[in-house]
Formats: sequence, structure tokens, C-alpha cells
Amino acid sequence: MAKKRGPKIRRIAINTGGGDAPGLNAVIRAVVHSAYNHGWEIVGIRDGYNGIFTPEQFPDGGLVPLTRETVRGITHLGGTIIGTTNRGNPLKYPTLMPDGTMAEVDRTDDLVRALAEHSIDAVVAVGGDGSLTIANALAKKGVRIVGVPKTIDNDLSRTVVTFGFDTAVSFATECLDRLHSTAEAHRRVMVVEVMGRYAGWIALNAGISGTADAILLPEIPYDLGSVAAKIRQRAGAGRNFAIVVVAEGAKPKGGAHAVIEKRLGALERLGGAAERVAAVLAETTGRETRHVVLGHLLRGGTPTTFDRLLSLRFGSAAVRALAEGRSGVMVALDPPTVRYVPLAQATKRMKTVPLDCDTVRTARELGICLGD
Ligand code: F6P
Repeated sequence: MAKKRGPKIRRIAINTGGGDAPGLNAVIRAVVHSAYNHGWEIVGIRDGYNGIFTPEQFPDGGLVPLTRETVRGITHLGGTIIGTTNRGNPLKYPTLMPDGTMAEVDRTDDLVRALAEHSIDAVVAVGGDGSLTIANALAKKGVRIVGVPKTIDNDLSRTVVTFGFDTAVSFATECLDRLHSTAEAHRRVMVVEVMGRYAGWIALNAGISGTADAILLPEIPYDLGSVAAKIRQRAGAGRNFAIVVVAEGAKPKGGAHAVIEKRLGALERLGGAAERVAAVLAETTGRETRHVVLGHLLRGGTPTTFDRLLSLRFGSAAVRALAEGRSGVMVALDPPTVRYVPLAQATKRMKTVPLDCDTVRTARELGICLGD
């Protein structure tokens, strides 16, 4: 979106929305320090936009003043000091209708009004696809807003990588290393589930790095017959154990991914992918099989150096963008630099794993079964 200098910025807000990712606090710290250099006041909106919609929920108020003191010593901490949520999407806000039913209602006009009432001149929105789609809608309604791409799933377009991804992959790889020894000791098949709803980046990168024997991605519907054949082939060569990595969004050929629940105003919750793969493999190979769900462990803990630096760069760049009069853009990594891309482009299409990319080819060339 074109640069357009609006009225002078005095007060900005930052929020973190969607599932947390290591590096959120580093972004907050960079935003606060950079904004201070411009003499701006900064507030954090609690839990996405809930601090504005339902401030009574928060004993200390829905808006938290952020100063250089409040962000001291948080760069290396997981989580987010202002909280986050993947409920209460202002575009699909769960609302009680006059007929007593609940429905998803677009509350962005209320939000735009509330931001003005709180004298918030601009917003830094840190989030994934959902949060940045909201940011794009707000930008279209005239809110000065810059997005920062976050998600451990790495499924946002127009940035080489999102922060949080490197930490998630590193931890998943460490877990695979640990699981190898117990799998080998017991001669078992270990089925390991990692996050990744619709994109298999974590499964693919950790699976290759952690020398998995099979990797099942949402992008490649699987046939467990080929995974069972791989396990038998290994056994024939004297390797009596196997590691199978499954993205939570992986699905069988002709089937659907495993959903636990779908609530109003929230994305569907996935779960059970590894369990169902393990059950079939135990049955078809006759091998003792265990499954492990790494799940939210991948979202916790200290960001890697890569993610810390990326988060700090993204946070500073977001403030730079606002100071330059930009709005409706997302900060994006385009090595060696950080650029700005229109939010509309970044949120148009999910970045899934291209089946002809070199990483997929590497997996195949290393003999890893991809379930097809
Ligand atoms: O958005 C990242 C993500 O980690 C997905 O891979 C996963 O499905 C989702 O969050 C789970 O989020 P929660 O359990 O917090 O609703």
C-alpha cells in the first residue's frame, strides 16, 4: 500500500493474536524501544482484541501501558506478556442474536471506533493468517496498521519465513533424536505428531533433519500401505525400528484430516492424526507401535537465536514502517533484508509445501517415504 502520511502519531497499540509462538516478546520489546525513539506512547491490547471488546475480563484493564521498563528482560521468553487468543475474531465475533441463537458477526466497525476512542493512532498487529486478515480488514477501514508475521507453522505467503518456525523445528528435531534411541532399544515404530494444520513445513524440515523414515504431510494424502512397506523393507535390512513423523493435518487418500472440535468464532481443532496412523501401522506391520504428540511443546520455550533476531528485526521494521507513513503492509523477510508487502497479498493464499521444492526432493532422495 502506498505511503501516506496521516496525522502525527502519538500513541500506538500492539497486539498478539492467534496461537503463541516463540519470539512474540522479542517483537514487543523491539516495538517498544523503537517507538520510544519517536516519542510515541505504546499500549498493549490484551488477548488479541479482547482487551478492547471485553476489558472487564482483565483486572488491570484491557490496555497495558508498555514502557522500556515493562519490556526489560523478555527477549528470550516464550509466550507473550500481553496475552493472546485464537477466539474472538472481530470478523467473526460470536454474538448473541435477538432470537437467542449465537452467530458469527463482523465487529470491525466497533473496533475501529474503539481504537479512535482510545486515541490509538496506529496498530502493530502480530499474528498469523487469521490476525493479519483482520489487520487487512482494519486497514481497509482506514486504521493505520502494520502486520508482523508470526506462526510456528510457517504458512504465511510473501515472507521467506515467519518467526517461531525455527524454534519449533529445532525442538521437534531434538525430540526425534531422543525418540530414536528408545525406538531402537525396543524395536518399535514411533509415530510422532507435530503441529501443522494445512502446511507440513514443521513435519518436513524436522523429519528430514531428525532422519525420519516416513513423513506425512497435509499436502500429500497418504497411503499407509507404502509406509508399512518402508517399515518392512527396513526390517529386512536389519533395522528393526522406525520413526514416522505426522503433521497434525495429514490425511489419508480420499479421507479428511482429524478434527476434535469446531466452535463458533474459532478455527477447527485438529488432533488424533498420529494415533490413527499408529493404530493402522501396528495392525498392518504387526510391529509394536507407540505414538507421541509434540503439540504445544513446539510453541513453548526460548526462541532460537535465529527467531530472536528475526523477531527483533520485524518489530523494529514495523515501527519504521509506521514512521515512514506506511499502512496495510506486512513486514517480510527477504534476505538479506526486511521488506514490506501488502497485507492483502500476504493473506491471499496459504503457503503450503510445494511438492516439487528441493526439500521434498531431498527427502525422497534420502529414501524417506512420503506416504504416496
Ligand atoms: O497456528 C499454529 C498452530 O500451532 C496449529 O498448527 C495448531 O493446529 C494450532 O495452532 C493449535 O492451536 P490451539 O491448540 O492453541 O488452538
